[in-house]
Amino acid sequence: MLLKGVTPVLDEFQRPLKDLRISVTDRCNFRCTYCMPKEVFGSNFTFLPHHELLTFEELTRTARIFAKLGVTKVRVTGGEPLLRKDLPVLIQMIASIPGIEDIALTTNGSLLTKEYAQSLKNAGLNRVSISLDALNDDIFSRINSVDFPVKRVLEAIDNANAAGFFPIKINMVVKRGINEEEVLKMAEHFRHTPYILRYIEFMDVGNNNGWQMKDVVTANEILQKINAKWPIEPLAKNRDGEVANRFRYLDGAGEIGIIASVTQAFCMDCNRARLSSNGKLYTCLFAHQGNDLRQLLRSEKSDLEISEWIEQVWSGRNDRYSMLRTENTTFSPGDKIEMHHIGG
Ligand code: GTP
Ligand code: 5AD
Ligand code: SF4
Ligand code: SF4
Repeated sequence: MLLKGVTPVLDEFQRPLKDLRISVTDRCNFRCTYCMPKEVFGSNFTFLPHHELLTFEELTRTARIFAKLGVTKVRVTGGEPLLRKDLPVLIQMIASIPGIEDIALTTNGSLLTKEYAQSLKNAGLNRVSISLDALNDDIFSRINSVDFPVKRVLEAIDNANAAGFFPIKINMVVKRGINEEEVLKMAEHFRHTPYILRYIEFMDVGNNNGWQMKDVVTANEILQKINAKWPIEPLAKNRDGEVANRFRYLDGAGEIGIIASVTQAFCMDCNRARLSSNGKLYTCLFAHQGNDLRQLLRSEKSDLEISEWIEQVWSGRNDRYSMLRTENTTFSPGDKIEMHHIGG
């Protein structure tokens, strides 16, 4: 439900602003080949100094202004968001904002102990998505590049479950020749569990992951593979702007999702604004330019002035990158924001 008195802000394609994704750090303890390849993000790479990150007060003020503009959902991302110190404090601050109905977190799970999961839950976090690309340790290590064991991510998933998060989504990026053979193994593992496994087409985010169309295992390929073994049927969307297409196993073993941003772009439903770790507002995951919100937050501007500025940015929005790239797989707008700054 929108806050009383809120008139939704619409962009050039009449898309409302509903969802705010906040990146709380640009750091990560993994070096996934499709996101932060270690050749680029090596020991010499300089991450943002602390003063360039928005403070919890600045982030909360921003979320409050967005809530008054119609945002009901906040997703906390990174880099790896659990590397940001005292994250439950921020969650609690955001959870107290009138109008914010849903707070979610996207994490690699490496730091999600039982105790930490519980303190995030107590702070008011509603949902978590945990990334896991393979069940085989060799394959997973080759992807995360830091030899992180599968077992510890599986424990993190159980910790999130024990803390009472529901539903828990498992994000698997599928890349040709890398973890294709894990598609059925992952399905088998997560069938008959409360977890929703979501297959994600490998995307051309950022400028460093060497994306090529031939490396994308398409949603159709994935679905055919699964359907041949365990028949599935589509489910209706939970809400407008949901990125995953949902399916259920006909034998009652649960639900899966597929995020087909490359082959079946969903831009016309896209209601997400993104705040990068250095406080820039982006209106698309593939944008090459952000809008400097941090500068405004650190000026004398009032909430109303900042709100008017956000309205202006959103109403001039005409992003539809994935759609344009689906039409022309070699399309590129030039330098794009890196995924570790914007959290996917
Ligand atoms: P809920 O629907 O709230 O559960 O969250 P979500 O699926 O949006 O969040 P999550 O962070 O788990 O995202 C899953 C995948 O979808 C990630 O790979 C994202 O990069 C991708 N994704 C999310 N939003 C967009 C988007 O607007 N455009 C594109 N192209 N991909 C997106
Ligand atoms: N293509 C698809 N998904 C990606 N993610 C990170 N980089 C890519 C990419 N190149 C996913 C992560 C995580 C989410 C935030 O984004 O696996 O689940
Ligand atoms: Fe991997 Fe997520 Fe870290 Fe990127 S931010 S390197 S996808 S764990
Ligand atoms: Fe939204 Fe941009 Fe993704 Fe399209 S490509 S769905 S406009 S974030």
